[in-house]
Amino acid sequence: MKGKKLCFVGGGRMAEAIIKGLLNKGITTPEHIVVSEPRKDRGDFLSNKYKVKVFSKNPSAIEGAEMIVLAVKPQVIREVLKEISALVTTEQLIISIAAGISTSLIASYLGEEKHLIRAMPNTPAQIGEGATVLCGGGSSTPKDLQQTKNFFDSIGISIIIQETYMDAVTGLSGSGPAYIFLIIEALTDGGVKVGLPRDVAQSLVIQTMIGSARMVSETGAHPSQLKDLVTSPGGTTITGLHVLEKNGIRAALINAVEAATERSRELSQTTNS
Ligand SMILES: NC(=O)c1ccc[n+]([C@@H]2O[C@H](COP(=O)([O-])OP(=O)(O)OC[C@H]3O[C@@H](n4cnc5c(N)ncnc54)[C@H](OP(=O)(O)O)[C@@H]3O)[C@@H](O)[C@H]2O)c1
Repeated sequence: MKGKKLCFVGGGRMAEAIIKGLLNKGITTPEHIVVSEPRKDRGDFLSNKYKVKVFSKNPSAIEGAEMIVLAVKPQVIREVLKEISALVTTEQLIISIAAGISTSLIASYLGEEKHLIRAMPNTPAQIGEGATVLCGGGSSTPKDLQQTKNFFDSIGISIIIQETYMDAVTGLSGSGPAYIFLIIEALTDGGVKVGLPRDVAQSLVIQTMIGSARMVSETGAHPSQLKDLVTSPGGTTITGLHVLEKNGIRAALINAVEAATERSRELSQTTNS
């Protein structure tokens, strides 16, 4: 990754999250990053804050880039693909993060011979804690997939999957940060309801989320096993859990992932047809 010329087409929230993550972790330096962003105020913001070079036109930005990250909204991706189709080469690695846009649609504009990767990151990438999945398309090679995996591993974790899982991933980890933010907010409100100052309640919730997630990850134990260990007979925890179960928390979370996946499928059908 070090020394590679990286271009972001579209300088929005997700591009910024990745740039921030890469720079914070020292994976690359600003002089190796260019961004193509049509909105002047946004371009100025990115160049001032991250010291990256910003172009207002896509063709100038992608010239000479070794990796091109397509970070525009799905609604404008066709326009962008048309614009760059005659310019991208088989030497360049094209990584699209546009939700719901298939590798076959990208290949239909850029050509099957191009090295194409589709990825679905999430915003915690900006603090080096992203969860990304990726799959190959066009003439991408195992080396391309590994290189892209290394890229996203540097700002979190990444998993190579089959493209058919992309909608499910969008419904789970793509939308997931918003679910967790809502849970953090709600638990904090719970703390405030029982009389804690909001800042104290929020700090406790955050650390409880981090600590519990790390316990599952580091012990390798099943979550239910860890839950049982802290649930004493007739105690406070089982009383709280009973209320959560009565209010259908499991079903609510499962339904949320299912509904978001279905929405992703609907959007993909519209954008790829
Ligand atoms: N945000 C997430 O959590 C997330 C997670 C996973 C994947 N994604 C994917 O990442 C992509 C970007 O999402 P985002 O949330 O970062 O959206 P965003 O903030 O709207 O960023 C898109 C950027 O592209 C610019 N743009 C518009 N037309 C362009 C063109 N023709 N050429 C170059 N740039 C152009 C936009 O400028 P204007 O504002 O002037 O239109 C905007 O700054 C989407 O495809 C999304 O599906 C996002």
